[in-house]
Amino acid sequence: MWRAAVVVMVVEVAVAVTRPHIVLIVADDLGWNDVGFHGMSHIPTPNLDALAASGRPLQRYYVAPVCTPSRAALMTGKYPIHTGMQHSVIYGMEPRGLPLSEKILPQYLKELGYKTHLVGKWHLGHFKREYLPLNRGFDSHLGFWTGKIDMYDHTNMEHDTWGHDFRRGFSNAYDLFGRYVTDVYTDEAIKVIEAHNASCPLFLMVAHSAVHSGNPNQPIRAPDDTVDSFRNISDPRRQRFAGVLAKLDESVGRVTAALQRRGLLRRALVVFTTDNGGVPQGFNDNAGSNYPLRGTKNTLWEGGVRGAAFVWSPLIESRSRLAMQKMHIVDWLPTMLSFAGGNVSALADIDGVDQWAALAQDGPAARHSLLHNIDDDYGNAAITVDDWKLLNGTTYNGTWDGWYGPAGRERPYNVSLVYDSEAARAAAALGLMPAQEHYLEMRDAATLTCKSDLPPIKCQPSSAPCLFNIKEDPCELRNLADEQPAAAGRLLAALRRARASALAPNNAADDPRGDPRLWGRVYTNFGDYGSSGGSIK
Ligand SMILES: *[C@@H]1O[C@H](CO)[C@@H](O)[C@H](O)[C@H]1NC(C)=O
Ligand SMILES: *[C@@H]1O[C@H](CO)[C@@H](O)[C@H](O)[C@H]1NC(C)=O
Ligand SMILES: *[C@@H]1O[C@H](CO)[C@@H](O)[C@H](O)[C@H]1NC(C)=O
Ligand SMILES: *[C@@H]1O[C@H](CO)[C@@H](O)[C@H](O)[C@H]1NC(C)=O
Repeated sequence: MWRAAVVVMVVEVAVAVTRPHIVLIVADDLGWNDVGFHGMSHIPTPNLDALAASGRPLQRYYVAPVCTPSRAALMTGKYPIHTGMQHSVIYGMEPRGLPLSEKILPQYLKELGYKTHLVGKWHLGHFKREYLPLNRGFDSHLGFWTGKIDMYDHTNMEHDTWGHDFRRGFSNAYDLFGRYVTDVYTDEAIKVIEAHNASCPLFLMVAHSAVHSGNPNQPIRAPDDTVDSFRNISDPRRQRFAGVLAKLDESVGRVTAALQRRGLLRRALVVFTTDNGGVPQGFNDNAGSNYPLRGTKNTLWEGGVRGAAFVWSPLIESRSRLAMQKMHIVDWLPTMLSFAGGNVSALADIDGVDQWAALAQDGPAARHSLLHNIDDDYGNAAITVDDWKLLNGTTYNGTWDGWYGPAGRERPYNVSLVYDSEAARAAAALGLMPAQEHYLEMRDAATLTCKSDLPPIKCQPSSAPCLFNIKEDPCELRNLADEQPAAAGRLLAALRRARASALAPNNAADDPRGDPRLWGRVYTNFGDYGSSGGSIK
């Protein structure tokens, strides 16, 4: 009797303390140099900078080179080669999704009692209902299913067709037509935060449309007054981009302030990450900048895979310090479960490692190598082991293998904007904002430059593998494959081992049944219906 009573008491104490909240903010196609905390100063990002200043900017953090593989990695904790998602993206008419055999992040968190909400982009399969967010662990979803939408009319134009793609759960959200998408997401995120029962843990994922380009007729859109406020940026594309970025930054501030108002922020983890590098020009042209890194989105150069990101939490002890630990987007799943008090050792067959101790106490990195990707359809692959990176093959016949701007460093950095931002006020209310001088030192340390006393050594990855000392040479200027054959051999062997475990890519040909023309100009879960289209419920 007595023993049983003690056990009951212990259980009650355990549930009385709610697990901490997790807010995951994903930016789309945001480049390394599109945030103020990496040295860019011609577009203020005060809210992002304030959270980076009071959190931990991730200085050696890597993502997959393109959207669907990156999101698959984030959701599963597995490299895309281990889910068949390594090649290209899911198209609107493609009968394919992240395999249903995969258990994903919100499903794990739901088991721990979290309420789970997705606001924004999905892009992990929609041709059947079973692939959609509400059937994969999310309690609610407002946003879209395909790769990108116009930020006002919420349509996607691709593969010679065009359709509406904006949903509240399974239903079309036509009522939001014409509303700027970043504002829609921000309002929805705040609604979720305000309606949340604080005695339950919250998992809120805000997967922004920003700063991805929209449709070809008007690819970069933001409210006129926001764009006008940047009229002194001389490149008109970069000026419009500045408007899109400013709205993203404002959203981060408003969401942080809402968490603070509800008292959720003091026990929250906020993760901010891009899905892949920016696209200065060419395909999916968003006028983003990876300066001074080499390459773009959908390349395996640092500009494609070195991600702009930070982690923020009052529960991190080594705050306001750059995280120099190597980290990969697959690590978030075990790291978040560890933070949430889940059983990380029960996770089977994932590639991600628990980096919570590395981040919270500035401990040693839980990994020393990372696979950037192996894509045998493109014929490219890259891997990093210790300080070495090996890269073989390329995309776009090498068209995007160069270095692109802008540096955006011509103006003085306005640090008082950072300390006046909504996010800074929320962090300061918890006593977390560092002294300005400290933040400015951190920012200098995070600002990469390419100076080298040694001459560049050419790399032609379509003819032979290239090797870089990525710690000394983040700009990938000196190909050391010939000078360092032993290191090159070691990384080639590691790549061969990784390739041996790769699944075949699961890309599928477009299914004509998926054409929005058959469904009143709407992207649908066409795989659930007959062959001739039908009406949308
Ligand atoms: C909040 O959740 C707790 C625990 O599940 C429950 O007891 C309480 O009734 C809920 N409050 C509201 C307002 O729903
Ligand atoms: C450009 O615009 C920004 C934002 O309005 C302003 O802070 C800055 O002083 C302007 N710079 C120049 C050179 O006009
Ligand atoms: C965690 O998972 C491992 C592996 O499945 C298991 O052996 C262990 O008992 C679990 N620990 C807890 C506290 O549940
Ligand atoms: C490097 O890439 C080329 C082109 O895709 C390919 O033919 C070759 O087998 C690759 N080499 C290695 C060692 O992976």
